[in-house]
Amino acid sequence: EFMREMSGLSNMEKQLKAILGISQVLILPQDSDDIPAVKTKIGKEAARLLEMKFPLHKKIAVTGGSTMAAISKEISSDKRDRSLQFIAARGGLGEDVLHQANTIASLFAEKTGGAVKTLYLPDHLSAEAYEMMMREPVIKEMMDLYDETDVVVHGIGNAEEIALHRKSSPEEVEMIRKGGAVSEAFGYYFDNEGNVVYRIRTAGIQMEQVQKAKAILAVAGGRSKAKAILSYFNIAPRQTVLVTDEGAARKIIELT
Ligand code: G3H
Repeated sequence: EFMREMSGLSNMEKQLKAILGISQVLILPQDSDDIPAVKTKIGKEAARLLEMKFPLHKKIAVTGGSTMAAISKEISSDKRDRSLQFIAARGGLGEDVLHQANTIASLFAEKTGGAVKTLYLPDHLSAEAYEMMMREPVIKEMMDLYDETDVVVHGIGNAEEIALHRKSSPEEVEMIRKGGAVSEAFGYYFDNEGNVVYRIRTAGIQMEQVQKAKAILAVAGGRSKAKAILSYFNIAPRQTVLVTDEGAARKIIELT
């Protein structure tokens, strides 16, 4: 704690809480854009925060991404709890397997002894296929589970990075570029003001369902995520807790 005071991190946490309009922010030292080990630290911190929820909150929806994968690596397997249920927040096969919500939900379940609900669906369905899928009982069952979610844990994507490096559909790339998308979470793309400019057509948790969760943990670090974090926090539910790093925090303060 003393070290945090000295390094100015707790002061930055105060500033970030005010800027983002939330009541808890945790900043890890240094920048994960430069030092990959910082992402591991974010994962560790988020894992500890999440484990504190386990005694009271059993239904946990998780998204994908490398920061989420870092949490799954840091979750402790010492305390087994069979009443925990991890739910993939969206179906998707587009991303690298290790970074998919399905894989991450499975890892959480394996480590904690809990159950897992996965959803394997292509990431980019045609309008017709989407309509049909939504009528399938297995998909409906997932939708009902999202309604009962106690905790949501998610990453925040940088729209530009997604357009460049992920297997985005031509439609998605077009919307990122022309629609002015800055951030992505739960398959929704948001502009600088937090307006939804595009949504990936796949089954997944709805923003209204995220809002109802008792606890929400957002994880994103690196100065390259600063704009995305600012964009998403225009609409982030107030109960969201952010775990980030100094690189992102400094850039956010500089931008505001
Ligand atoms: O879909 C993107 C995630 O929300 C963020 O991914 O943690 O690998 O940056 P990342």
